[in-house]
Amino acid sequence: MLNVRPLHQGFGLEILDLDLAAPHSDEVIDDMIGLLDQHSLLLVRGQRLRPERHVEISRRFGPLLTHVLKQYLTTGLPEIYVLSNVTQDGKPIGNHKEGWNWHSDLSYVAEPSMGSLLYAVEVPPVGADTLFASMHLAYDGLPPALRERIRHLRATHSYAGYYGKAFADRTPLTDEQKARTPDVVHPVVRTHPVTGRPSLYVGQDIVSRIEGLPQAEGDALLAELNAHAIDEAFVYRHVWRQGDLVLWDNRATMHCATPYDDSKYRRIMHRTTVAGSRPF
Ligand code: OGA
Ligand code: MN
Repeated sequence: MLNVRPLHQGFGLEILDLDLAAPHSDEVIDDMIGLLDQHSLLLVRGQRLRPERHVEISRRFGPLLTHVLKQYLTTGLPEIYVLSNVTQDGKPIGNHKEGWNWHSDLSYVAEPSMGSLLYAVEVPPVGADTLFASMHLAYDGLPPALRERIRHLRATHSYAGYYGKAFADRTPLTDEQKARTPDVVHPVVRTHPVTGRPSLYVGQDIVSRIEGLPQAEGDALLAELNAHAIDEAFVYRHVWRQGDLVLWDNRATMHCATPYDDSKYRRIMHRTTVAGSRPF
């Protein structure tokens, strides 16, 4: 049995006394999958995970996706996407300022990721916390009239639109990268495929419009939903320590990076991304 404690009153669990580098820990991974479905976020501290083991554990959750920005797959294992401000021989080893907006991973593809496993290799002593919001709690907390209004709405998620906003100072996406990430339309309220629980499915910068509404009206509604979604009552702030592994359910949460002094401190994070299914 796993020893756990809550991280927030509505979602998130820390798993205590678990060493995922030990081969016998394989036995608890099915339990972790069950806990993730129910609690949306898991934290395991004090890990020493080599990329091979990180990938091996992640695969138990489902097939892994490789990121479209291939220049940041620098560990030798293409399943690991590196987030970092560190450069080596003049080249970034990872994507810097990734996720500095509220989002769930890969919402901009037809079958978005079901979950991500982010491992802290090196973290600054201050800053660079990650915020997580429960979209189940956000949905439950909607005023009934707004819940009714959005019930059947669908929204366009656009990676090209996000990239243009977030990384305006960088090399634009190539035609091939754009072709791999065409805009997609998803429901604004999605159902968790395992638990059946509804959640609010939005995102900052990535969601470009609401289908069937004039742009201005859709923008106003999106702004309202995005503001509601990250109400502090629904948010857990994770303060990273080296060796933390955080696993989150992209079907039930959004997350957002926060700044740090990147001229002074190094940050290296390794992420694996588990394939998911079409939201409904
Ligand atoms: C991610 C992400 C935020 C952070 O890994 O998907 O958005 O704080 N990370 O690194
Ligand atoms: Mn992310």
